[in-house]
Amino acid sequence: MVPGARGLVAPPQAERLVKGIVLAGGAGSRLDPITRVASKQLQPVYDKPMVYYPLATLLDAGINDILLISTPQDLPRFESLLGDGRQWGMTIRYAEQPAPKGIAQAFLIGADFIAGDPVALILGDNIFYGAAGFDAVVASFRTGALVFGYPVRDPERYGVVELDDDGRVVSLVEKPEHPRSNLAVPGFYLYDGKVVELTEGLRPSARGELEITDLNKAYLDRGELRVKRLPRGLAWLDSGTHDSLLEAANFVATIEHRQGLKVACLEEIAYRKAFITEAELAALVRTMPNSSYRAYLETMVLGEGGLR
Ligand code: G1P
Repeated sequence: MVPGARGLVAPPQAERLVKGIVLAGGAGSRLDPITRVASKQLQPVYDKPMVYYPLATLLDAGINDILLISTPQDLPRFESLLGDGRQWGMTIRYAEQPAPKGIAQAFLIGADFIAGDPVALILGDNIFYGAAGFDAVVASFRTGALVFGYPVRDPERYGVVELDDDGRVVSLVEKPEHPRSNLAVPGFYLYDGKVVELTEGLRPSARGELEITDLNKAYLDRGELRVKRLPRGLAWLDSGTHDSLLEAANFVATIEHRQGLKVACLEEIAYRKAFITEAELAALVRTMPNSSYRAYLETMVLGEGGLR
């Protein structure tokens, strides 16, 4: 919804659509020298730029009203890559994060965009693949905060959540030296309209950042944090180091070669989710240079080889 187009009376919470923020900031110094001239989230993960993957996760979850936040240097590159999102039935707006002051700062930067609505935040280097059921989770999301838990071998690199047998949160710690569980909190979070106010109440951590884990703890203290375990059959990859970037690319290539279907193809998702029509997809494909990406859309999505 366009700001200002909303009526004076706020619609009931149930009718409020979840908006999406993609945070694609950071210096990407762990990927140096790859990231000297273009940010991490613009780097390829096999056959498409990294930022396509989190955008695909949002679109697949039914979220098409997007704010993308990045550094002042990189923002123009994202704009020329993604435009206003119309080609995928999305609205993409842009905002600067002048300095990396933490993930939760996204909600202060995006306060006007959020405008009291529920919002999903996804980090620009988080890649999900598989039947996560995010669309149903987003459609039924109303209040509080919802984060996910995913088993990993090296939880100390992440926010770590410990749950009791009933799925209630026992502890939540950012990058613990001695993790109390193997459940990492992926970079995909859902918050209600209180998120801006609760972020305003946060203090920067020892590393000078507004920590997303502190925001989640603020919801926890109010009894309003839910954690949903993601199934082990789902792949959650990050791509912030040379090795994890290569692993993510190999993973995507393996799936795509096996199935002949593309992972995170925004045009395909937009069409299958009815954010754009077949005619709009066909027109969009005609603007593309000859590439295997275009050929995929022509044959597997629009053409005879496609799934109907
Ligand atoms: C951030 C968060 C962490 C979360 C992770 C997911 O870590 O601080 O809680 O588990 O993203 O990717 P960072 O990538 O900044 O090290």
